[in-house]
Amino acid sequence: MILVTGGAGFIGANFVLDWLATQDEPVLNLDALTYAGNLENLATLAGDDRHHFIHGDICDRTLVDRLLAEHRPRAIVHFAAESHVDRSIHGPGAFVRTNVEGTFTLLEAARGWWGSLGVEEAAAFRFLHVSTDEVYGSLGPEDPAFTETKAYEPNSPYSASKAASDHLVRAWHHTYGLPVLTTNCSNNYGPYQFPEKLIPLTIANALAGRPLPIYGDGRNVRDWLYVGDHCSAVREVLARGRVGETYNVGGWNEQPNIDIVNIICGLLDELRPDPAGPYARLITFVKDRPGHDRRYAIDARKIERELGWRPAETFATGIRRTVQWYLENQAWVENVQSGAYRAWLERNYASR
Ligand code: NAD
Ligand code: DAU
Repeated sequence: MILVTGGAGFIGANFVLDWLATQDEPVLNLDALTYAGNLENLATLAGDDRHHFIHGDICDRTLVDRLLAEHRPRAIVHFAAESHVDRSIHGPGAFVRTNVEGTFTLLEAARGWWGSLGVEEAAAFRFLHVSTDEVYGSLGPEDPAFTETKAYEPNSPYSASKAASDHLVRAWHHTYGLPVLTTNCSNNYGPYQFPEKLIPLTIANALAGRPLPIYGDGRNVRDWLYVGDHCSAVREVLARGRVGETYNVGGWNEQPNIDIVNIICGLLDELRPDPAGPYARLITFVKDRPGHDRRYAIDARKIERELGWRPAETFATGIRRTVQWYLENQAWVENVQSGAYRAWLERNYASR
């Protein structure tokens, strides 16, 4: 069994679905079900007894200790976090609590549990920490892409909290010998992403005829990776990554935000034409995000060389799949936006 934290969120849910589609090993899924956690993402697992869901907080040491002792997972894959940069600007406290204190709590619980294991089990145990490229800071137009040795220069409360968690993970390896792995991934997109992030927000707003907000001049660059490719990278690192190492994960796909929004508008024009005219008419430039990093780019050569990992999707194939998924799952978006999934949760989960 593996313990996944944050497995009801965007990437965590994709990871749990992908894991159970490709492996027989059960998953213990610990998630606090914040606004971003949604059990509807895992509805296709109803009746699958390999998925054990625990509604709880990673900051709850007693709970985490009990789960480790009762379920004896051979690994922890740690996704749980507050993940949205804009929210971190308005309310940084939750980010420090979950991302820093929560990771600290998991590390301490893992250290105690790991220390109690026999030699073979202890040698096989892994703590995989899922992190972000944002910890490296902002690149200029000519700077080389982030490698794993790039100095940390976080600029938002979100990236600072993730940087702190990465440093804790590193320290628990060097000081206590805990067998850790860290991944630093670029921007993900795909099914089940909460419509506060650029790509699902653009799709949802376009379909509703609402403005498509572009921060600043729209020339900030992100490096986009289809979520399924992030999941396969995490699986590879868990299986064969070198203990104590960090691995950058990215799709070699840098794009300015305005291009991303225009690509989505073009796909929607093709797949769901709007009688009112091309969707790009809705593009609206708005006030910039404070501390907005200009450019991220991932150098993924280490994971490619050491683990033979490659993304399966190009941006063209991944974004088409994503737009199609949102078109086919508009009820999911409406439920998330209206809060109806909370009611679904109470109906379908609380009664179990
Ligand atoms: P998300 O916001 O969609 O999901 C986060 C999940 O964590 C939710 O299910 C939420 O309920 C849960 N959670 C939050 N606080 C918790 C707590 N205290 N205890 C237990 N569960 C809690 O996030 P995401 O986009 O899926 O990101 C997952 C991880 O991947 C994060 O660590 C993030 O930093 C990292 N990451 C994200 C991206 C991206 O583009 N989204 C890229 C690189 C790395
Ligand atoms: O790089 C990895 C990170 O990617 C993850 O660690 C974060 O968890 C994830 O949220 C994401 O962070 P970003 O801030 O890059 O993602 P977001 O979708 O919020 O924004 C992408 C870009 O689009 C960014 O330059 C800001 C811009 N933007 C965003 C929104 C929501 C807009 O121009 N308009 C918008 O409405």
